[in-house]
Amino acid sequence: MKCSRCKEPAVVALPSHHAGFCASCFLDFFTRQVEKGIRRYKLFSHDDSILVAVSGGKDSLALMLELSRLGYKVTGLHIDLGIPGSSEAARAVVERFCERHGLSLLVKETAAEGLAIPLVKQRLKRPVCSVCGKIKRYYFNKIALEQGFTVLATGHNLDDEIARLFSNILRWDRAYLADQGPLLLAEKGFARKVKPLWRLSEFETGNYAFLRGIEYHTAPCPYSKGASFTTHKTFWADLEEAMPGRKLDFYQGFLENGRPAFQQAPETGEESVRPCDLCGYPTSADICGVCRIKEMMRER
Ligand code: AMP
Ligand code: FES
Ligand code: ZN
Repeated sequence: MKCSRCKEPAVVALPSHHAGFCASCFLDFFTRQVEKGIRRYKLFSHDDSILVAVSGGKDSLALMLELSRLGYKVTGLHIDLGIPGSSEAARAVVERFCERHGLSLLVKETAAEGLAIPLVKQRLKRPVCSVCGKIKRYYFNKIALEQGFTVLATGHNLDDEIARLFSNILRWDRAYLADQGPLLLAEKGFARKVKPLWRLSEFETGNYAFLRGIEYHTAPCPYSKGASFTTHKTFWADLEEAMPGRKLDFYQGFLENGRPAFQQAPETGEESVRPCDLCGYPTSADICGVCRIKEMMRER
């Protein structure tokens, strides 16, 4: 197979784009897809200061490197969850990456807040993953706002977005369907949130990481029973193989034609949001979810 652009031997085949690329043309393709994704929904500009949530996985590291190469002002934020045998390795990968590329990094240890995930897990009578996600989002938002960042970026890719969309559709969750997309505007004490890799598949971010020599953390979290939405991802992989390009078309079609319909629908009992009595974080109750978890951790 020859590169679709320069006719040199191709190293990456992309049936969904009816193309194959050599290493250098693939990296150009990746850049163009990121730029297109940013431009289409006006995610941010070169004047913004962007806090990039970096887990140590390939997606968020690829995102941070590409944004810095494109001249955006980026700072990394890593949440150290305090999980033995996992968090140290993920954090070390992120620290080495930032040092190698001269990028600034903030690290937040949840243990310092009494929220080491293994202890939270011990206290909960249910799986810790959703609470862990809540704690991560809390610190993404809090640190972005407190430290004056104008945008918070995460490494969610097209496969993550499709799997989430599909799950929202299976439940016809109108509120989630109205909100899902590459951009969430800042409002009511929440930071502006963006997902600049929304046009790129996991396969594509993996190739990018490989070709740019990014060392990344691959071990799954010891507390999750495998990747989230596995069934949905398998279903979509089969569909994509039979109909190359479907995934991106479906997601773009949702953003352009599906989502507006959910956004126009009358809001169903939307709760009013106010600052948490203890920490000021936006919540629909008196005390926010994370402060309630902290209280639970203090109870004997
Ligand atoms: P996940 O929910 O694990 O697929 O992660 C989705 C995105 O959330 C990643 O691409 C990162 O941008 C961010 N993220 C997840 N875990 C962390 C972490 N421990 N520290 C910083 N960012 C994270
Ligand atoms: Fe949070 Fe696994 S990363 S429970
Ligand atoms: Zn609170």
